[in-house]
Amino acid sequence: MTKLRAAITGVHGYVPDYILTNAELEKMVDTNDEWITSRTGIKERHILKGEGQGTSHMAAEAVRGLLAKTNTQPDEVDLLICATTTPDFVFPSTANLITDMVGIRSVGSFDIQAACSGFLYALTIGTQFIETGKYRKVVVVGADKMSSIIDYTDRTTCVLFGDGAGAVLLEPNEEGYGIHDSIIRSDGVGQHHLFQKAGGSRYPPSHETIDKRWHYVYQDGPSVFKFAVKNMADVSAEIMERNGLKGEDVAWLVPHQANKRIIEATANRMGVGMDKVMLNIHKYGNTTAATIPLCLFDYESQLHKGDNLVLAAFGGGFTWGSVYVKWAI
Ligand code: ACO
Repeated sequence: MTKLRAAITGVHGYVPDYILTNAELEKMVDTNDEWITSRTGIKERHILKGEGQGTSHMAAEAVRGLLAKTNTQPDEVDLLICATTTPDFVFPSTANLITDMVGIRSVGSFDIQAACSGFLYALTIGTQFIETGKYRKVVVVGADKMSSIIDYTDRTTCVLFGDGAGAVLLEPNEEGYGIHDSIIRSDGVGQHHLFQKAGGSRYPPSHETIDKRWHYVYQDGPSVFKFAVKNMADVSAEIMERNGLKGEDVAWLVPHQANKRIIEATANRMGVGMDKVMLNIHKYGNTTAATIPLCLFDYESQLHKGDNLVLAAFGGGFTWGSVYVKWAI
């Protein structure tokens, strides 16, 4: 009998309307379009404006679209997992808020926090519930309102990030399609290179933490860059090797969108041409947990049943991972 796998049977994405261009950033900090484009590949990013709207607003839009598109009623969903680093509240979880907003009642929901690798972590967890036969419809969301933790006076970080959300539906498949393998990794050695210092239990909000700007993202870019290039490439090569995949077998590399140069290094190591790499960093920037589902959403019309996809991510922590998917729709 063929193994029971978790197949992605639908994908949807959402980005807010407001577009923050490189030209606008030039007026806010000492930067320029040439530097941003050549160092990162980013041209613009979407920002969620509006009082009282958090990550859940964008995530709920993505999930509503996903349910409509897959003809799924809210009461059919067995579980919802949300990967985010910018939850609306410390508690309750953003997943909890999303279920309420879209009318999913009385089922499990929880958040996963693994920075930019969060979506791959959440996808890996969701997969287990399908593979064991416990659940038949699992929604996995990646969503972040990075603008809520970015210091728009710090040119080293404010040019990099944007807001957005993406969601997939996982369902059982016994025909060989779906998630074939996944690797998730972490190493706390990275904790001081990329983090938000205050707002948690170690440094709860105070006048002092605000004055010191500890509620914003801090990143030592070059150190993160070195780890990201090595680990994202290594983990992608590892998942290919252990599944007997060569470069020509991979229809698409679906990389986390943090920096075009990191993506190019990963593709190069995998032996995959840039024409087979999903790229949307130029229009969204780094949307943290949303980058990979937003790529799948943008490229959906170019995907074919049976395509081999390698999803790869690297993020704060450090965290990183890869997932091998045989596209099912
Ligand atoms: N505009 C103009 N100049 C700038 C800007 C800017 N926006 N930002 C930095 N610079 C300057 C620096 O001050 C520095 O000047 P100096 O040489 O006079 O000191 C110079 O440009 C080079 O700076 P670097 O930081 O060395 O530039 P680098 O080429 O490393 O690019 C970047 C920076 C884009 C941040 C890169 O290091 C990177 O992509 N790092 C990894 C990001 C990543 O993968 N993060 C993980 C995921 S995010 C998450 O998990 C939340």
